[in-house]
Amino acid sequence: MTEKIAVFPGDGIGEEIAEEAIKILDVVNHKYGFSIEIEKALVGGVAYEKCGNPLPDDTLQLAIDSDAILLAAVGGPQWESLDYSVRPERALLGLRAKLDLFANLRPAKIDPALIDSSTLKREVVEGIDIMVVRELVGGIYFGEPKGVTKNKDGVEKGINTLVYTTPEIERIARVAFEMAQIRNKRVCSVDKANVLESTELWRRVVTEVHNDYKDVDLSHMYVDNCAMQLVRYPRQFDVIVTTNLFGDILSDEAAMLTGSIGMLPSASLGSEKHIRDNLDYGYKGMYEPVHGSAPDIADQNKANPIAIILSVAMMMKYTFGYPDAAKDIEDAIQNVLNGGYRTQDIYTKGMKQVGTKEMGQLIASSIK
Ligand code: IPM
Ligand code: MG
Repeated sequence: MTEKIAVFPGDGIGEEIAEEAIKILDVVNHKYGFSIEIEKALVGGVAYEKCGNPLPDDTLQLAIDSDAILLAAVGGPQWESLDYSVRPERALLGLRAKLDLFANLRPAKIDPALIDSSTLKREVVEGIDIMVVRELVGGIYFGEPKGVTKNKDGVEKGINTLVYTTPEIERIARVAFEMAQIRNKRVCSVDKANVLESTELWRRVVTEVHNDYKDVDLSHMYVDNCAMQLVRYPRQFDVIVTTNLFGDILSDEAAMLTGSIGMLPSASLGSEKHIRDNLDYGYKGMYEPVHGSAPDIADQNKANPIAIILSVAMMMKYTFGYPDAAKDIEDAIQNVLNGGYRTQDIYTKGMKQVGTKEMGQLIASSIK
């Protein structure tokens, strides 16, 4: 049975790094005798230019028909003045909402070879291994009412609404507890329950769901304290589960601890199971590097393809149930880094600087 992967290169460095990810998919496809089928489509600014819509219907349909989606990056300065409804970022929000990809997993793990790239002291960041589980299709990003209105007196009013329902909180809490069970068995739920009623509900529901996962330790933290604790003593965290907006902010902070945003992958999972040979393996999902489209270095063979390649590894794990292939990819990256190869963003003195294509090729060869 074929596994269908939709590849959406998007904008900026997207095309270049997607090429390297496809190289890796080809290699594992061959090595393990998978029958992975890849189909590309336009998304983001390039799609807007061609079709007037950052998420064209055929792109959305391909996403619906695929088992997994690999999205490189969207956005760029030339589209920043566009109306909200057609900005490249809308494509991301549209895919998340239409596919109900409610669970966003953003690992922030420090690579020992790159520890000195962090802006924080070695003793603070050494050994960090955090998984931010961000709720992705609810909260203030999607709550109603929303929008900007004008009163008769000409005063404008901008509204967004923070809404969470019990089922929305329950399902993301379960993902966090199950993730903790295969990690270090600690969940920290982050809210602003001292001020915001909807997150008071969040805290109550997470606490109730915890009854089903007594092997996991649960703690609660207010978001402002969490932002501080992340730079004070990040090793205290294993899994952080939080709302859409808090997760957006805290995952960037957690990413920065590692000093190499060009190395961080992410997965956005739905509730639809991936079935192969009548067995279910994982969840349909969309996989993306955490970094953006970096238009300033696009088309110069400078971008670091590691984050998107690690996103492929997450796809092998969380959608297809091929942990060996995932481990192969991760090990190959380690080998290449241990060999001293670096793209410019992670380059330090004495290392060998390589471009996007060379980095992809080195990793691909190391898998074979
Ligand atoms: C992210 C991004 C997106 C978000 C934007 C581009 C819509 O910041 O994936 O974290 O806010 O979710
Ligand atoms: Mg963000």
